[in-house]
Amino acid sequence: MEFSVKSGNPEKQRSACVVVGVFESRRLSAAAEQLDKASDGFISNLIRRGDLDGKTGQTLLLYHVPNTLCDRVMLVGCGKERDFGLRQYRKVIEAVTRALDEGGAMEAVYYLPELPVKGLGTAMKVRQAVITADYALYRFDQLKSKQEKQRRPLRKLILSIPSRRELAESEEAVRIGQGIARGVRLARDLGNLPGNVCTPSYLAEQARELAGSSDKASIEVLDEAQMKKLGMGALLSVSRGSREPAKLIVLQYRGAGEDHKPVALVGKGLTFDAGGISIKPAAQMDEMKYDMCGAAAVLGTLRAAIDMDLPVNLVGVIPSSENLPDGAANKPGDIVTSMSGQTIEILNTDAEGRLILCDALTYTERFKPDVVIDMATLTGACIVALGSHAHGLLGNHKPLVHDLLNAGKASGDRAWELPLWDDYQQQLDSNFADMANIGGKGAGTITAACFLSRFTKKMHWAHLDIAGTAWISGDKKCATGRPVGMLVQYLLDRIEHRK
Ligand code: BES
Ligand code: MN
Ligand code: ZN
Repeated sequence: MEFSVKSGNPEKQRSACVVVGVFESRRLSAAAEQLDKASDGFISNLIRRGDLDGKTGQTLLLYHVPNTLCDRVMLVGCGKERDFGLRQYRKVIEAVTRALDEGGAMEAVYYLPELPVKGLGTAMKVRQAVITADYALYRFDQLKSKQEKQRRPLRKLILSIPSRRELAESEEAVRIGQGIARGVRLARDLGNLPGNVCTPSYLAEQARELAGSSDKASIEVLDEAQMKKLGMGALLSVSRGSREPAKLIVLQYRGAGEDHKPVALVGKGLTFDAGGISIKPAAQMDEMKYDMCGAAAVLGTLRAAIDMDLPVNLVGVIPSSENLPDGAANKPGDIVTSMSGQTIEILNTDAEGRLILCDALTYTERFKPDVVIDMATLTGACIVALGSHAHGLLGNHKPLVHDLLNAGKASGDRAWELPLWDDYQQQLDSNFADMANIGGKGAGTITAACFLSRFTKKMHWAHLDIAGTAWISGDKKCATGRPVGMLVQYLLDRIEHRK
């Protein structure tokens, strides 16, 4: 997809399609008004007949609009003008892009970054338009034997901005938007790949390729023997139940000077989670191929940082394994020793994410990160608590949690904080080891974070539970690429505040 920006009158665009907004109820946006004037009231006449009332995402395609140079005009409903925020704006871009992609226009000029979006300037509107249009056009069909050939796919999008003075910053916004979109795409592709393709070794290969794409990036992949030497007994206990060897993928990106401490990103890379001996029920178990979406988000964020040449230092740490019920698998009651020296009684082998993450987090200490953020499809309880709209967010460092919440709001990839109070820690008490790997009834997302907090005491740390947000279930099953949007926003905010 090709994106560009320009500034000019809608009636003068020689394009396959010009897209303008209409608010509820039948209130024309500035660009729609302009077209209406040029066409002697063609649009307002039409709307008066009731074909479009302005509900968010409604579209109407018009041909032969008088006194215009374009082949088509698309009207899109934007809802109530005073409610028009980032979420509604993205809905509008998504609806328009889907509708256009199914129609005959192969390029279009969007007069949508000109709409008044609450709290957003032109550059952010342009960036969000790029990210959202690319999101809407995403397909995962690489494993179908015959790829459906689209007759006339949308190829070129031109975003119109109100003033030429904003051209330079808008072009930069396109560049940033494309970087983020590319990161999101990588995360979605990796997530959607099935467990028999996307194994720990496959993830390591993909990470290698990513590192190879930049002089500023380097990679190390630790195998099981190396992990054993480091004493990663918790991580290795999970992979013992599977024939695929575990990998610890360590990616570094050096975009800033030596004096800048890195941001460490740690992602759960369970390429398939059957639960182990505490095996999961059969229904929807296929979706546990998505249990590596934390890892995918780490790689997606690194992809974006490399693409945009961000001036930050990053370390990505990905513990990757399968969780299957083999004869050598963990058994309920087994006790293992983590790299930190703390012992863990495994009361449920399906609480495996924390077992691989705890050793990865201990390993991360050696990079002396400024902050560490882990992301994991960690608990079904998080879906019960927050559904699919917000990531669960917990952490031991107020400013970091605050910055992540804000990055979520700004990017539209939002999180909600849950309490990481000491009160919950006792739920992890074990009769036989330093801790149990499950916290019993109640507050499953919090007790999982409590578990991780015992391995991050020396660092400024935050945890994102993305169990409800990393993919969409059901007939529209697909990875979302979240939380790449939030993380890149967090990095951009850090760079901005440093200046
Ligand atoms: N990967 C799952 C969590 C999960 C389940 C994410 C469903 C998304 C959808 C994780 O490894 C797991 O199995 N967690 C258990 C923990 C429990 C045994 C304490 C869970 O949530 O049931
Ligand atoms: Mn599990
Ligand atoms: Zn899992």
